[in-house]
Amino acid sequence: MAETSNSEELVLAFLAEAGDEFVSGEAISGKLGLSRAAVWKHVNALRAAGYRIEALPARGYRLAEVPDRLTALELRPLLNTHDVGRELHCYEELGSTNDRAKDLAEEGAEHGEIVVAEAQTAGRGRRGREWVSPARKNLYFSVVLRPELPPSRAAELTLVASIAVCDAARHAGVEAGIKWPNDLLASGKKLAGILTELAAEPDRVHWAVVGVGVNVNAGPEDFPEGLRGEATSLLIERGAPVPRALFAAACFTALEEWLDRHAEEGFGVIRDAWRERSVTLGREVSVKSEGREIVGVAEDIDDHGALLVRGRAGLERILAGDVALLRQR
Ligand code: BTN
Repeated sequence: MAETSNSEELVLAFLAEAGDEFVSGEAISGKLGLSRAAVWKHVNALRAAGYRIEALPARGYRLAEVPDRLTALELRPLLNTHDVGRELHCYEELGSTNDRAKDLAEEGAEHGEIVVAEAQTAGRGRRGREWVSPARKNLYFSVVLRPELPPSRAAELTLVASIAVCDAARHAGVEAGIKWPNDLLASGKKLAGILTELAAEPDRVHWAVVGVGVNVNAGPEDFPEGLRGEATSLLIERGAPVPRALFAAACFTALEEWLDRHAEEGFGVIRDAWRERSVTLGREVSVKSEGREIVGVAEDIDDHGALLVRGRAGLERILAGDVALLRQR
C-alpha cells in the first residue's frame, strides 16, 4: 500500500473538521499553503483510498463518508500516544505482520512502531498454527518493543498485551476474559490471540515483536467450518459491527498504558490485572506441556507469569503449554 502524503492527511483533517459543511478549494489551499491543483490531486487520491468526497462548483468539497480502513490516514488522528503507534506501517496485505515487524526491528525500528495489515496470507498462531486472516474484517497488528528486560521476563509482555486487548474488547461492549497464557475468550470461544517473538542477548531483550490478532467484524462464514464452534468475534458477540480504526486505536492506547505501568511499577500490577481478567484461575484445566498432560485446578500465576496447577502430583509450575478449560467448579 502506498504511503499517504502529509498534505493528503492535512486535506482530510481539514474536511473532517468541517463536518457536514462544504469548504471551498480556495479556503483549503489558502489555509494549507497548497495550490488549487494540489488540493484537487489530494482529493482524488483520498477518493481512490475509499473516502467519499462530494464536490459542488460554487461551494467546494464535503467529506460524505469515511471508509472502514486501517490506514495511517484513519488511525493517526485517533492516537494520542507517545510511543505506541509513533510510526504506523500500514499494508493492504502481508504474509504476516510479525515477520514485517521483525524485519523492521532488525533494521532499527524504534520502540512502539506498529505494523498493521488488512489481510495476511501467512498469519501465524502459536505452535506454528495458522491464524485465519480474511481481508478488511479484523485487526492484525504487531508492535516492535525495546523493553529494558532480561529474556527471562519477556513472557510478561504477552500478559501485558492480553490485558490491553481485553480492556479494549470490554470497552467495545464484549465481556472478554483471558485464558492462560494469552488467549482472549468470549462466550468460551476464541476472540483474539497473541504471538510474541524476540531477539535477545543473554541478559537483555534486544527487541520483542508482539503480534495481536483480534476477530473484529468476521461473521461465522469467515471462519473455516472446523473453527466455527471454537472462534468468535466482536461482531458475533455484540450483534453489531465495530468501527475497526476506533477499536485499533483503543488497543494501541491501552497497550501503551499497560506497558508504561509495567515499566514503572513492575510485574506485580500486571499480575493483579491479569488475575482480575482471567477465566483460567479457579477452573479445572487440562494442560498439554512438553509432551505431558496435567489435569488439575489452575490456582494462580507466579511472579514470572507461569501457571500454577494443583494436580494429583502436587503443585506444578507450567511455563508454556496449551490449556483446555474443563468443568466449572
Ligand atoms: C495464537 O493465538 O496462537 C496467536 C495468534 C496471533 C495472531 C497474530 S495476527 C497478527 C500477528 N501476525 C501473525 O502472523 N500472527 C499474529
